[in-house]
Amino acid sequence: MDKRFLGRTGLQVTELCLGTMTFGSETDESTAHRIIDEYVAAGGTMIDTADTYSAGSSEEIIGSWLKKQNRDDLVIATKVYGEAGPGQPVRGAGRKHILAGVEDSLRRLQTDFIDLYQIHVFDDATPLEETLSTLDALVTSGKVRFIGASNLTGWQLQKAIDLSRGHGWEPYVCLQPLYNLLDRDAELDLIPVCLAEGAGVIAWSPLAGGWLSGKYSKDAGGPPEGSRSNQADWDAHDNDRTWRVLDAVRAVADEVRRTPAQVALRWVVQRPGLTAPIIGARTPEQLADNLGATGWSLTDEQMDRLTEAADRPLPYPHNILQLPQFVRRQG
Ligand SMILES: NC(=O)c1ccc[n+]([C@@H]2O[C@H](COP(=O)([O-])OP(=O)(O)OC[C@H]3O[C@@H](n4cnc5c(N)ncnc54)[C@H](OP(=O)(O)O)[C@@H]3O)[C@@H](O)[C@H]2O)c1
Repeated sequence: MDKRFLGRTGLQVTELCLGTMTFGSETDESTAHRIIDEYVAAGGTMIDTADTYSAGSSEEIIGSWLKKQNRDDLVIATKVYGEAGPGQPVRGAGRKHILAGVEDSLRRLQTDFIDLYQIHVFDDATPLEETLSTLDALVTSGKVRFIGASNLTGWQLQKAIDLSRGHGWEPYVCLQPLYNLLDRDAELDLIPVCLAEGAGVIAWSPLAGGWLSGKYSKDAGGPPEGSRSNQADWDAHDNDRTWRVLDAVRAVADEVRRTPAQVALRWVVQRPGLTAPIIGARTPEQLADNLGATGWSLTDEQMDRLTEAADRPLPYPHNILQLPQFVRRQG
């Protein structure tokens, strides 16, 4: 598996990151350990989790696996924001919760440092200075190596990076957005901020929750048996663009003799600014399929064909900014 630097840091990560959101819920501990073993055997080094996944069980399952490994070979990313426990109030990204949350995550993960500590969702109620100075102190203390953020807007990300720069604090070095062929809004503002600032990008739901795996078809009239989709999810995706994108993914998959999931993941791997998709696998069979997204490349023409199939009207002001009469290019 190829390695890339995480943005402009000196930290190398593999081109596929392993997502663990189903660990402790749809995926039991022994199956989860098999999935991590197989991911690592394929050369993978980066694992993403969160305090809230299965109310803390995902971190615990990783921890019981991690204690038998060489910790330095692995890059562990987790997140803080919500409370790990059903029915608990949302805690946010204030100093009190982050300082308690990092200790809880370290204990569940059975490690004394976290490689990438991410704010799961932008916290409107807490001053950004409070969040960022607390994260900076965690890096200084050595409990956290790098910090990142997920689920925020372009201006929120840029403001956070500028504030850190102004104060001499450790900046966010990585963004974790929703990004796949069907969900491309991160291209509008978020990925451009990361490209300009040298931050890495690890994409969540790179198969749109399974939609791009090839097992969904228009004729079926509903989600496949045993998938995590429900009727509301089907209704949200059942439109011309989805089926056009899936047709394009299947056509390219036939051409390159790969599966649709491998093609859809490969598209994410090769997009500008992307560090790695965070692959989600409920079973070892799905993992084996998804690991086949490495070791080969889509041509520029195949990338363009997939991207064009997934084009959609741009919202204001992006539509105006792309008009030929307004575009100015140097050189
Ligand atoms: N930051 C955030 O807010 C956030 C949000 C969501 C996820 N994440 C992270 O991103 C990771 C991945 O997200 P995701 O699970 O939504 O990713 P995804 O790759 O879009 O969807 C994974 C799901 O698709 C199906 N699937 C995967 N591979 C398949 C294959 N080869 N063939 C057929 N079906 C396949 C499985 O669901 P079924 O078998 O049920 O169909 C699997 O659970 C998570 O584990 C987590 O680490 C972060």
